[in-house]
Amino acid sequence: MAISKITLGIIFLLLGLTDTLSPVSNNCKFPAVYNFGDSNSDTGAISAAIGEVPPPNGVAFFGRSVGRHSDGRLIIDFITENLTLPYLTPYLDSVGANYRHGANFATGGSCIRPTVACFSPFHLGTQVSQFIHFKTRTLSLYNQTKGKSPFCRGVLARPKDFSKALYILDIGQNDLAVGFQNMTEEQLKATIPTIIENFTIALKLLYKEGARFFSIHNTGPTGCLPYLLKSFPATPRDQYGCLKPLNNVAVEFNKQLKYKISELNKELPSSLFTYIDVYTAKYNLIIKAINIGVVDPFDYCCVGAIGRGMGCGKTIFPNGTELYSTSCKNPTNFISWDGIHYTETANMLIANRILDGSISDSPLPTQKACKLTKT
Ligand SMILES: *[C@@H]1O[C@H](CO)[C@@H](O)[C@H](O)[C@H]1NC(C)=O
Ligand SMILES: *[C@@H]1O[C@H](CO)[C@@H](O)[C@H](O)[C@H]1NC(C)=O
Ligand SMILES: *[C@@H]1O[C@H](CO)[C@@H](O)[C@H](O)[C@H]1NC(C)=O
Ligand SMILES: *[C@@H]1O[C@H](CO)[C@@H](O)[C@H](O)[C@H]1NC(C)=O
Ligand SMILES: *[C@@H]1O[C@H](CO)[C@@H](O)[C@H](O)[C@H]1NC(C)=O
Repeated sequence: MAISKITLGIIFLLLGLTDTLSPVSNNCKFPAVYNFGDSNSDTGAISAAIGEVPPPNGVAFFGRSVGRHSDGRLIIDFITENLTLPYLTPYLDSVGANYRHGANFATGGSCIRPTVACFSPFHLGTQVSQFIHFKTRTLSLYNQTKGKSPFCRGVLARPKDFSKALYILDIGQNDLAVGFQNMTEEQLKATIPTIIENFTIALKLLYKEGARFFSIHNTGPTGCLPYLLKSFPATPRDQYGCLKPLNNVAVEFNKQLKYKISELNKELPSSLFTYIDVYTAKYNLIIKAINIGVVDPFDYCCVGAIGRGMGCGKTIFPNGTELYSTSCKNPTNFISWDGIHYTETANMLIANRILDGSISDSPLPTQKACKLTKT
């Protein structure tokens, strides 16, 4: 079988990013994962609440659309796989839901702050309220179902697991992308402290509810998203071709977030907040692809009928003529799936960096976080 130049490129990317892996023993046994965020980790909430994410999303791995914006698995799926837990059921999914090992509150288009310009009504504050409701209902139902059908009790979270679970947050990209539509770099940077403040309120609320182990993903290089590159053709680029002002804003956001996380680690007893530099993992993947030169990180597989992200799989009827989106044959040759979201291959490479601990602020794999005792 002939190996194409592009496939070879992906293999190089894989090797380059996995050569630092070392075996992990005595992992924490997180019994559950609670996740909060946007489309980067939405496992079906928008499909359940607002409208189906159409195929070819999901087709490459799941064989059908499963509410994820990707050809297959997301970073969160690789994380739960690694923890030997099932894929997370969205909180908003009312059919076939199983919350024994956690729930997913992430919804596509969500912002940290409740901004009207944001794409989703389920901002972080709403996601946290949903979690509190979820927990309250679980605690009361768990006792009521004692001795009843395992089909009823077996799908509920165990009350004792709430304080042992891993709480993952991956959100902020939309606050920056939305702000960039009508603000200069300096104006947008000036809004960062309020966004971080809002983020902090959410984290403290979760802590108050008993959450102790947090994995905080910083925001990615939003200025490298192909659809934004198309939307802002005249904006200055960095040396790799990403939007320089938007990435500057993302870097500043991450700097302030990292500082806040270190503060929370000091302030809140018996808890561990791990700051994870997803920005670096994504940006390095893009740089590596440019250096190797066989994968174009700014090209994408599923091209919406309107030529930008989000339209993947949709059919539109402008002026009465039917227009389809088109998808490439082999998504593994791409980093970007639809101009906004990453392909399963890219998600796996990024998840590997998260799981091996190499981009965590304390050089500890996620799985060992629960072993830490703070002085
Ligand atoms: C989880 O990830 C670590 C670090 O990459 C790896 O050593 C371990 O084998 C993985 N575990 C599973 C169950 O995939
Ligand atoms: C940008 O638009 C939002 C609403 O969409 C508004 O609240 C904000 O004040 C605007 N900012 C600037 C600098 O124009
Ligand atoms: C974030 O701030 C807004 C006001 O801008 C507030 O309504 C919202 O509740 C805050 N979020 C959280 C999690 O407190
Ligand atoms: C459920 O039952 C346990 C043990 O029987 C008890 O400690 C707990 O307070 C009960 N919880 C609720 C919400 O009733
Ligand atoms: C629809 O028609 C308008 C007006 O004739 C035209 O400007 C536009 O380009 C058309 N859109 C498409 C997608 O063909």
